[in-house]
Amino acid sequence: MHSMKNKSLVSITDFSKEEYLRILDLAGEFERKPGQPLLQGYIVATLFFEPSTRTRLSFESAVNRLGGKIIGFSDSANTSVSKGETLNDTIKIVSNYCDLIVMRHPLEGSARYASEVSGVPVINAGDGANQHPSQTLLDLYSIKKTQGRLDNLCIYLVGDLKYGRTVHSLIMAMSKFNTTFHFISPEELKIPNEYKIYLDSLGLKYFEHSDFTDIIDEADIVYMTRVQKERFSDPIEYEKTKNAYVLRADMLKKSKPNMRILHPLPRVNEIHTDVDPSEKAYYFTQALNGVYTRQAIITSILGLK
Ligand code: CP
Repeated sequence: MHSMKNKSLVSITDFSKEEYLRILDLAGEFERKPGQPLLQGYIVATLFFEPSTRTRLSFESAVNRLGGKIIGFSDSANTSVSKGETLNDTIKIVSNYCDLIVMRHPLEGSARYASEVSGVPVINAGDGANQHPSQTLLDLYSIKKTQGRLDNLCIYLVGDLKYGRTVHSLIMAMSKFNTTFHFISPEELKIPNEYKIYLDSLGLKYFEHSDFTDIIDEADIVYMTRVQKERFSDPIEYEKTKNAYVLRADMLKKSKPNMRILHPLPRVNEIHTDVDPSEKAYYFTQALNGVYTRQAIITSILGLK
């Protein structure tokens, strides 16, 4: 097993299956005992060039629970980026001020670039439509916790499969666990071919659908996603697809008793609020699991666990 110490987490493929499982075990430890002062004397920088609620605040909550300190920004308009400072210079400077950088940026590849110029490890908190690996680890934690296993599950991915970075990272990770995938999206937001080619190369089963109302009974996990207005260059394309899927409580009648609904959140209207009281609605607990999982990621990368 490779050590995660001092390694950046840019893509979910940077870590092995064994390393994912180790993170999930550690996250379980933090769920049982969140307040462990392992990060005393450490500084973590959270650099968010794009809006966030869960990712930034759960990373910051994780650092606080571990006794570390935070620097950073939630809006680059208040930094020297607005004066024209490059990402290269920003990262070089901030990496001298901290022990670990957590960065969200709208450009695909920006996190890999930052990891190459930074003097400290970088965690990709989302780079455009590309990857969101810490989200995937909390998704894996949520799947394992609710299903009791990660192997041989049937996962439905619904909504924006073209630009959805959480979907892209989750497919790569779950492909290590003999998953059967069902991709449900409008024509304009279909899963990119590169992911299908990858699954073909592994001999994994996947199916594409334009609706899932009549086939939900086979699902172990239904992973809903938002159609992301900010990724569309053409507003008409967004208007055409924004209400493609709305999950409602009455659609759950035929689903398996242990089926669980995940969503990286934020939702707009793709999960009706009448689903929220269902025991199958797991998305709020999923977001809570982000704190434990991020405690596990941070302490692993800093070599504290
Ligand atoms: N799931 C997620 O990335 O949420 P935020 O955009 O609020 O961080």
